[in-house]
Amino acid sequence: MSMLFIDGKQVPASSGQSIPVYSPVSGEAYAEIGRGLSADVDSAVAAARSAVNGEWGQYSATQRGRILVEIGVRVLQNIEELAAIEAKDTGKPVALARKDIEALARYFEFYGSAADKIHGEVIPYLSGYSVSVVREPCGVVGHIIPWNYPAQMLGRTIAPALAAGNASIVKPAEDACMTSLRFAQIAHDAGLPAGALNIVTGYGREAGAALAGHPGINLMTFTGSPEVGVAIQTAAAANYVKCVLELGGKCPQVVFEDADLEKAVPILVGAIIQNAGQTCSAGSRVLIQRSIYDKAVTLIAERFSQMRVGLPESNPDCGPIITRAQFGRVQKFIEECRASDLPVVAQAKLDANLPENGYYVQPVVFGPVPRDHKLAREEVFGPVLAILPFDDEDDAVALANGTDYGLVASVWTENGARQARMARRLEGGQVFINCYGAGGGVELPFGGIRKSGHGREKGLLAFDEFTVTKTVVNHFS
Ligand code: NAI
Ligand code: MG
Repeated sequence: MSMLFIDGKQVPASSGQSIPVYSPVSGEAYAEIGRGLSADVDSAVAAARSAVNGEWGQYSATQRGRILVEIGVRVLQNIEELAAIEAKDTGKPVALARKDIEALARYFEFYGSAADKIHGEVIPYLSGYSVSVVREPCGVVGHIIPWNYPAQMLGRTIAPALAAGNASIVKPAEDACMTSLRFAQIAHDAGLPAGALNIVTGYGREAGAALAGHPGINLMTFTGSPEVGVAIQTAAAANYVKCVLELGGKCPQVVFEDADLEKAVPILVGAIIQNAGQTCSAGSRVLIQRSIYDKAVTLIAERFSQMRVGLPESNPDCGPIITRAQFGRVQKFIEECRASDLPVVAQAKLDANLPENGYYVQPVVFGPVPRDHKLAREEVFGPVLAILPFDDEDDAVALANGTDYGLVASVWTENGARQARMARRLEGGQVFINCYGAGGGVELPFGGIRKSGHGREKGLLAFDEFTVTKTVVNHFS
């Protein structure tokens, strides 16, 4: 059984109980993880507090940065092993898992190099005063992460936290935490002191809830479903703790009549097929100007029909869904779409050798989807694309902004003035023009508005979340 990682050591869960780990490829249990409970969270919080008050908290920014950069180096040295673990745990194509591990390393390179560049400010004030604003770590940070990009999510949230001098406790998703556990040991071996990073595996309603509601936490970050995000923020609020929440999206890709379709179509299709659509920033709605609707849909259908669902080692375009429960949820969504007679535009191909009990769904494109249909408004979190026509720019804006979410959007047009207008008018945390892809983009601030959440991770702006300012006023005359 895999252990928890607390205070620099692998330790068994206090419950003595385990949770089975299933392969999405075959549906078979292949490992076990510890079932952490609130007692384990207590130990992790105590270890993290000791780290903040001890060796880790004494390190200079340069020392912290060096350790983080070294972690990045070691992640790359172990990339094949980590990618294999990630692919086995999630079922995703090995090539995609490899990219995810590269991104994990990038987070440590980026934030490790930035650790000694977190500056404060000097503010001119009344005569006889000097005023500075210093940035300090928040303290102990709780991170609850999901299963869709386990390695990337880990790097995205802990690298800036550690760079800023915080200590972290991660509750990875029970459905995919093998990379986090292996990573913790690599980070420790690279010189990260005991207690700076702790991993408590377990169920969300047990270990996760215990972490979110723990009075010893100074900041919470969460990526996952809106419902759980609200529960976590509510629990944290009882302790006056701030939350950074990233809760998914229904991201629009807006295609105008002057778009370069040859360039656009592979990217439009890739944005929903990647990771079997289990991506917060999946481009799950393609909005097409009516004058080119038929032409664009034909090209999308051609491309989508060539997409292949297969085993991780064969590097297909699309793998399985993460768990039996999510598989059931996605299948039900597709069945509802079929039952409401939505026209099927295209379907991807399933390889012949897929294990019978694997969590494989057949990716599908529906269109035209009526604007009030569930598929036009709700996140599927599976390889299901909705295509909707629009009339003009105003209509496109209304449609694109017309869901509860606001995370990422893209615009496809060769008209520069329209690019600029659309970038202003589209609501959300990121807008891509004639491109798409938040997956890498370690440097690019990322996060949502409304139901997509709040706060920003990635880029240097993440330090606004992971530090707290102190204004120091000195009267010298
Ligand atoms: P979830 O939100 O339940 O799980 C995400 C994380 O939260 C996991 O680590 C889980 O253990 C933890 N968690 C669950 N309940 C908790 C609680 N009461 N207190 C504290 N932590 C808790 O997501 P789930 O059930 O795996 O997927 C459901 C839907 O959520 C998906 O269909 C998708 O729409 C959305 N989702 C969005 C993600 C994103 O990247 N924005 C990632 C994963 C899921
Ligand atoms: Mg859940």
